[in-house]
Order: sequence, then C-alpha cells, then structure tokens
Amino acid sequence: MKTTEHIDPLTPREIVAELDKYIIGQAQAKKSVAIALRNRWRRRQIPEALRDEIAPKNIIMIGPTGVGKTEIARRLARLARSPFLKIEASKFTEVGYVGRDVESMIRDLTHLAVDMVKSEEREKVEAMAEAQAEERLLDLLLPGLPVEDQAGPANTRERFMKMLREGRLEDKYVELEVSQKPPAPMVEIFAATGMEEVQSNIQDMFSNIFPSKKKRRKMTVSEARKILQQEAAGRLIDMDKVVEKAVQRVEQSGIIFLDEIDKVAAKSGGGTGPDVSREGVQRDLLPIVEGTSVHTKYGIVRTDHILFIASGAFHVAKPSDLLPELQGRFPIRVELDALEQKDFARILTEPENALVTQYKALLATEDIELIFEPEAIEKIASIACEVNEKTENIGARRLHTVMEKLVEEISFEAPDVAPQSIRITAKYVQERLKDIVKDEDLSRFIL
Ligand SMILES: Nc1ncnc2c1ncn2[C@@H]1O[C@H](COP(=O)(O)OP(=O)(O)OP(=O)(O)O)[C@@H](O)[C@H]1O
Ligand SMILES: [Mg+2]
Repeated sequence: MKTTEHIDPLTPREIVAELDKYIIGQAQAKKSVAIALRNRWRRRQIPEALRDEIAPKNIIMIGPTGVGKTEIARRLARLARSPFLKIEASKFTEVGYVGRDVESMIRDLTHLAVDMVKSEEREKVEAMAEAQAEERLLDLLLPGLPVEDQAGPANTRERFMKMLREGRLEDKYVELEVSQKPPAPMVEIFAATGMEEVQSNIQDMFSNIFPSKKKRRKMTVSEARKILQQEAAGRLIDMDKVVEKAVQRVEQSGIIFLDEIDKVAAKSGGGTGPDVSREGVQRDLLPIVEGTSVHTKYGIVRTDHILFIASGAFHVAKPSDLLPELQGRFPIRVELDALEQKDFARILTEPENALVTQYKALLATEDIELIFEPEAIEKIASIACEVNEKTENIGARRLHTVMEKLVEEISFEAPDVAPQSIRITAKYVQERLKDIVKDEDLSRFIL
C-alpha cells in the first residue's frame, strides 16, 4: 500500500495538484519541490554506475514569514512516501556545545524509516497474525480438551471457532501469560552532545539486565486477542530485514527539511560569539549534505543521496552569507511571494483544511450553523492585510488571530444559544473588529 517500491510515484504535475489542495499560490516553489521529488524516482531507474554519480539537487526556499514555506514541506511529507524529517537548523549547535548535534537528524530519520517499514510489514502479516491469535484463543478457551475431541467437523473446537468469529465470546475471560515491562531503572543518564546514541544503548542494556517478567493475567477475549495478535506479528516480522530496508530507504529516498536555515547564516562581520557558533553549525552540516557515513543504532547510514530542502525568511542574512561550500550544495533557489488580500480571501475558504471550514466544523458540534457571506470573507482578508501593514507582516498567520477574535463571542455563547444558524456579514466583521483595527496599539496586542 504505502511501499515505495511498488507504487508509481506522482508526476510533478500531480504533486503540484496535491499541494494546490492546501496551499494557495506559490506556484514556483511547488514546481521546484515537485521536480526534486520526481528526480529521486528518476535517479533510482538509472543503471547503478551513473546513479551513484547523480547528487540530489537541494533546494532553498526563500520567503517572508507565514507565506507557506513550512506548509509546503509538511504537505510534501505526506505525499513523498519517503522518510521525511523536518527540523529547525537553529536547534543545532556546534559539536562541543550544549544542544543537539547535527548527525542526530540522520539518526532520527532512520528511526522514523524503521517505524515506517515496520508498520508496512505489520500490515502484510496482519491476516496471518490474526489467524494465529485465533488459534491461541481457542487453546485458551478450551484448556485440556482432548485432541481427539477437537478433530472432525462437528466438534467443540469448530463450534467455538464459529462463536468466536461471530463475536459471541468477546466478553468471556481467559488467562494469558503477559510480559510486564520492568520498572524503569532509576538512573538519570546524562547525555552530552553527540551522546544520544550512547544513552539509548545504555537504556537498551538496562532492559536486558532486568528482563521483562511474565505474569498470568485474567482478561477478556477481546483484550487477549489484541495482545496475541501483536505477539504473533512480532514473531512473523523479520526485524533484520526491516532495518535493512529502512536504511536503504533513508539512503535512497530520505528527505530532510531544514527550516530556519537563515538563523545559522551569520551576517558577516564582528566575529562575535553567536556568529562563530552559527558558522560552526554550518560546518557540521556540510559533510552531511555533501555525503558522509553516520553511525546509528541501525548501522551505518550514507547521506549522499538524501534530499535537503532548506528554508528561511532571509530578512537579515542572505543566502550568500552561508558558507560557500554550503551554498554550492543548494543549487536550487525559489522565492515565495508575499501574500495579498486576494490570496487571504482564498486561503480562508479554499484549502481542504481552510480556517472557515474549521470554525464551521467546530461550531457545528454545538449545533450552531455558521454562514460566512462572501463580503464578510473579503472584509476579514482586508482587515488582516491592514493589520499586517500597520504592525508587522506575519503573512497568513494573521488570519488565525483575526478569525479567533471575530468569532470570540459566538464561540463563548454557542452552547447557550444553540441550535441556531448565524450569518456572518461584512457588517458584523466590521463591528467586531473596527475598534481594534483603528487603534494600532490595541491591534498589536490583540490581532
Ligand atoms: N500560501 C498559503 N496557502 C494556504 N495557507 C497558507 C499559505 N501560506 C501560509 N498559510 C498558512 O499560514 C500558516 C503559516 O504558514 P507557514 O508555517 O507555512 O509559514 P512559513 O512560510 O513557514 O513562515 P516562517 O518563515 O515564519 O516559518 C499556516 O497555518 C498555513 O496553513
Ligand atoms: Mg516555517
């Protein structure tokens, strides 16, 4: 189903169409990420010798705050069917400083891929695990029943099997041996930078020293079935294979979204403390982006073909403030456009998860039908624009604060006035928000 190998990946046009369902405008950025994604698949079709030569074309998305950079990445993640990790570059600090080391993102990505492959494998063995659990349940329901009595069509076991499948035994009790998790050892392990792996190894070690205890427990058939299915699936899944597949998937189709890359791009000059450490982060990033081997608990992972999509507002620093080597590793630059009033109106209503849709759904649970007139939408968009201009431009995020303020009263009173349908008109919007918009100081705090 979700396996990368057997599926025809989306074409660039299809990827853009999918992104269009959630993100308004930003055609160029959508196009670039769509091409990059498709290129991963193209590379995998090429004979090996050449395939290894083709480096991923990493991307930098440049644009003001709140115009959809992270949103594009988030949606791409769903589509990619690849292991995908989003991480803020500013989270990292140079090796030796307190903070997360850069290599940990590869370990996180690998961990994620292992979970992904594991759940795919679990789906594959589901039917068999179910059947095995059923047999075990029958053993438990019919303890000590002589085997000869279990053979033949009209026997007890058959009858029980039928009842079990019809769900007539769900509330019956059985006794099952379950393993208990050992109490977590009361040791605080100090994880220094780069020591996360050591930490998790130590924790694994402890769980070996204190093996899980088995205990007999009474439970209902339906509870036992879940446990037995899980155990059966565990036996049926070959973890070595899962890990092998996962590592391969990370190496061949992993994507890392490096948000806020501009925060580690030091504006030149000064040579002061923070700048030095930012450059240090870039230096640490460089080998990973260029291709290196990272030790993970699942073995060594090569990073040569992982795709990196970096993003940042680049208000102060410019992409040219990044280390030259790093710049070279991100050959594709796309700029996202600032959003205008007409975009805001569309963002409010068009995406599948549009704010207006969200508020309608929220209030529908209270038996309130919210109706937004088109003129009201226009008004909200224009107010959001106005506040963005007068105070600080925070892009589409402004819509969230404006909408929240707008429906505040309705939200509060909903349970008292329901059922009712409430029509939001331009006049209502104007009345609710005009005082705040007029007063610049007020809007700084409220909207
Ligand atoms: N073009 C757009 N279409 C639809 N929704 C958008 C668009 N741009 C932004 N939004 C909405 O605005 C919010 C913020 O967007 P997002 O997180 O993508 O901003 P960003 O560009 O990553 O900003 P920052 O530089 O601050 O990280 C999200 O809730 C998103 O749904
Ligand atoms: Mg963002």
